[in-house]
Amino acid sequence: MPGERSPAAELAALGPDAILRLPAPDGGAPAGPTAVAAPAAIDLPAPPTDSPDEWPGRRHVLDLDDFSAGEIGRVLRTADAMKEILGRPIKQVPALRGLTVVTLFYEASTRTRVSFELAAKRLGADVVNVAASSSSVTKGESLLDTAHTLRALGADVLVMRHSEAGAPYVVAEHVDCMVLNAGDGWHAHPTQALLDLYTLRERLGTIAGRRVVIVGDILHSRVARSAIWGFTKLGAAVTLCGPPTLLPAGELPWPVQVDHDLDRALEGADVVMALRLQRERQQAGLLPSLREYVRLYGLTRERLARARPDAVVMHPGPMNEGVEIMPEVAYGAQSAIADQVTNGVAIRMALLYLLGGGSV
Ligand code: CP
Repeated sequence: MPGERSPAAELAALGPDAILRLPAPDGGAPAGPTAVAAPAAIDLPAPPTDSPDEWPGRRHVLDLDDFSAGEIGRVLRTADAMKEILGRPIKQVPALRGLTVVTLFYEASTRTRVSFELAAKRLGADVVNVAASSSSVTKGESLLDTAHTLRALGADVLVMRHSEAGAPYVVAEHVDCMVLNAGDGWHAHPTQALLDLYTLRERLGTIAGRRVVIVGDILHSRVARSAIWGFTKLGAAVTLCGPPTLLPAGELPWPVQVDHDLDRALEGADVVMALRLQRERQQAGLLPSLREYVRLYGLTRERLARARPDAVVMHPGPMNEGVEIMPEVAYGAQSAIADQVTNGVAIRMALLYLLGGGSV
């Protein structure tokens, strides 16, 4: 095919730094994850003019609360370069060759786990997937024992999903690995928030000044918590919408508005993010009935018409079609849901690349 390059040509084009080396700066012990050489530089588009990019040598990605707008900008711009790679006939570069990425999932996942695996493979890293349900966790091995064991087996990066909020923080503190939080309890899902920001920037051009409505089960949503940090840090105005029983109680840590009336909240919105209703909550007495919830908070075509005509519809998945979102909206022209999934690979490539020491 015209323009197609062989893997060898790809490698040659990246130059001699393309293959990672493990330096031993003190001439001593084999290098650990902190000593992985910088990956090969990848050409990036011009930086956005609205926020100067930065990346201050971060070792972990645990949530977006400690990210500056400039760091988020760096991730998004690096993801632009990764997306260009993903558009090539040969979707792989050896930028992270020699790096070992282990995904350690204590909870089910389709999008996050597969996209992390693809992201690491596209950058030439070695990838091992561990599901807690089929590991020595079932014999009583503790979280830290498991993480130390994976480190001893050569893991440089641990991508972790856990049902307990804070679990990735414990591993980051006690194990000499870079840690990426792939979702911890109700607390955080930073890579989902970054791919949401990337998708929105792709659709709308800018995020600052946009009106974003997040509707549904915000109380139990790690997606919402990280997304709110991301949207507000980039200057969007966020409204949280749902029944009082599904919103966090008390003073909120974010500069957001709360509205229990979805029809009112949607007026003039640029973005509507529907969240999965976790049906098990019904048994906890948090909802009077599913029918009532769908009537008041289900995202229908008629409701969406209250938002701007070009409003973007988002959902992190998995969806309950016919509950929080109707199929004609989920698969309609305004939906960015499939793009969110696709962009997850580029965002996770960008994060692995930056954590691995890539500089742009
Ligand atoms: N959005 C999300 O985290 O999906 P998965 O549970 O399929 O990874």
